[in-house]
Order: sequence, then C-alpha cells, then structure tokens
Amino acid sequence: MSASVALQTLLTQTLGIAVPVINAPMAGRPKPVAGAELAAAVARAGGLGLIGAAACTPVQLTEEFVQAQALLGAGADPQHAGIGLGLINAFTGPELLQAAIDCQPRAIWLSFGPFKELAPPIKAAGIKLICQVQTLEQIGDVLPLGADVIVAQSYESGGHGASHATTFCFVPEAVDFVREQCEKAGRPPVPVVAAGGVTDSRQIAAVLALGGDGVVLGTRLLATPECGSRAEEKEAVAAAGSDASETPATVRTRLYDDLSSLPWPQEVNGRLLQNKFIADYGARLAGTPPAERETVKAEAIEVLKRSDFDRDVSAVYCGAGVGLVRKIEPAEVLVTSLVTEAKARLQRLGAELAK
Ligand SMILES: Cc1cc2nc3c(=O)[nH]c(=O)nc-3n(C[C@H](O)[C@H](O)[C@H](O)COP(=O)(O)O)c2cc1C
Repeated sequence: MSASVALQTLLTQTLGIAVPVINAPMAGRPKPVAGAELAAAVARAGGLGLIGAAACTPVQLTEEFVQAQALLGAGADPQHAGIGLGLINAFTGPELLQAAIDCQPRAIWLSFGPFKELAPPIKAAGIKLICQVQTLEQIGDVLPLGADVIVAQSYESGGHGASHATTFCFVPEAVDFVREQCEKAGRPPVPVVAAGGVTDSRQIAAVLALGGDGVVLGTRLLATPECGSRAEEKEAVAAAGSDASETPATVRTRLYDDLSSLPWPQEVNGRLLQNKFIADYGARLAGTPPAERETVKAEAIEVLKRSDFDRDVSAVYCGAGVGLVRKIEPAEVLVTSLVTEAKARLQRLGAELAK
C-alpha cells in the first residue's frame, strides 16, 4: 500500500485500511464498472478497493480479484491488500457467494434484497461484512447478523437505491441508531459510512462532522481512467451539468428496471442521467392503460436493443453529486487528494475554533 496520507476512524480500524474511503462496488456487463483496476487504485491510495462483482460469473469474480491483487504488486499480502468484493443479495446464488468467500477478500459488501441467507457464511469464514442499507429498520436487521460496517445509502446516491432520506439526515440518524443498538446488544460500536452524493473533499469533511466514519465514492470515481465503463459514459458524467439546475442532470426512475429481466426488489429504483428515452417512454407508459403497457414496453425494449451507446437512450447511472464532477482524473491521486484536502479542512476549522 503506497498511501501517502492517513486519516484514522473507526472504519479504518475495523477494515485495517489507511483512509476512510471505499469505492462503490459498481457492477456492470460485460465487465464490472468497478473492476480490478479501480479497486487496486483505491487500495493503493489506502482505501478499501471493492470489485463490483454482482453481475460476474464465479470464474470472472475470481479473475478480477486475482488481477486486483496482482495490480497491487507482487509483494502484496492478500490479507492486507484492502481488496473486497461487492455482491447484490437479490442476484447472488450459492456458487457466486462461495467464489467470493474462497477469495478470502478483506470484506464482502452486500446490498439490495434479503441479507439473512448470505451473511452467515461470510461471517463463518471470518470475512468482514459490509451491509449497505437504505432504512433504519434494515440496520436493525443486519446488526444481529454481525454486520461489521453499515453503509447508509441515501436518496442522492447514483445507481440503484431505495432511500427517501438525504445523506445530511440519514448519516446522523444512522449513527445514533447504530450506537443505541450496539449498546443494547453489549457489543462494540460499528462504523457508519455515507453513500450518496459524496463527490468532493468538503463533503468528506462534512460526513465526518456528521458523525460518520467514512465515505463511499461511486459517481466521483466513474470519471477516472481506471473505471470500467466506456469512454462515452465517463465523458457524459464529467459533462453532465448539475442537479441544482432548472434542468436537473439526474433523475430517479424504475423505467430501465421494469424493462429488464433482473429481479430487482420492488422498492428499488435507479438514479441516472436524464435523457430523451426516459422523458419519452416514462411519459408514454404513465399515460397508457395497463392492458396496453406491454406493447409500449416491447417497443421500448427494441429501442434499447438497437443502441450500443446513445446518450439519448442509454442508462448512465450516476448520483446527485454529479455537478461537482468536472473532469476525468486518475483514481489513486484523486482519492489521496480528496482525503488530504478533507483532513486539512477539518484541521483548519479546528484551529479557527480553538482561537
Ligand atoms: C454506475 C453505478 C453502479 C452501481 N452498482 C452497484 C452495485 O452493483 N452494487 C451496489 O451495492 N451498489 C451499486 N451502486 C450504488 C453504490 O453502492 C453507492 O451507493 C453509490 O454509488 C453512492 O452514491 P454516489 O454515486 O453519489 O457516490 C452503483 C452506483 C453506480 C453509480
């Protein structure tokens, strides 16, 4: 690990990393959006590098993990390399789970769908369990399963989500709730990490001030050379404009999920860049009687099949913080500079207040 900056929190202590940053385990086909290259870059910066393995085959998951370790350097100790694996509960069968466990990653991240079947084998294998949740009730569900890290995913988050709460409100509520639950259970406190809209150093400092122990970066890391998405998508993210605009850059919708065959839980939808396809087919489906919707859906699916990448049609998943993402930058340098700036900001504020 070549981390040149350290910022210790309960999260870094729990996961044995140097800085309180985790990259979002962004899945993708044919290869993960957060694959070996991105995970290794984040781990080199001292964070936890996660591979978004939800859409991988077991063989592909293992290959990505081995590649990430190799990218970290031949001498990297697999137990201390800071590489983890992200799965989506609703899509994870026993083979994929077993492949993830067999890698003995630093941590396994679970999100979206029931946790209770997947968590016990991960804990039994001695692997740290990260649970991304969207409600306080889910925190109540995953703590007894042995969650080592709680990720509070907010409304602003890019990609799929289900929260009605903003990062500003959810993080302190989650911190209080986790503290109360841990006290009741007589167990040591569990770190709470913010996911959703965190794209620059000011927001990282703010999350720490809210009582959070670290951040997940998704959208910000889409605009990096190491990210596995296509060049057009990275450019679309960097040029997206702002959600604080009369024509907001992103929107939450279930449109693409309703057109896909993936079994996303009903409460889940996605945040992505607004486009003509969403405006057109969203309005058409809303205005079509249920009996005729299948015809419109079939037409929409054909349109999607015809386009390889088309900014007017394709889903470009990203979060409400996209307005702060303005250029494509290497991930390791980016994470290091974000943490350095956040730390400096907090030190400056502390010094001001001490005067
Ligand atoms: C392109 C993209 C793909 C994502 N894929 C996954 C995934 O496979 N599994 C998951 O748990 N979360 C996924 N997420 C959500 C992230 O875990 C995280 O909550 C989100 O990126 C945080 O918000 P931000 O994008 O504003 O940083 C994805 C997010 C994006 C932007």
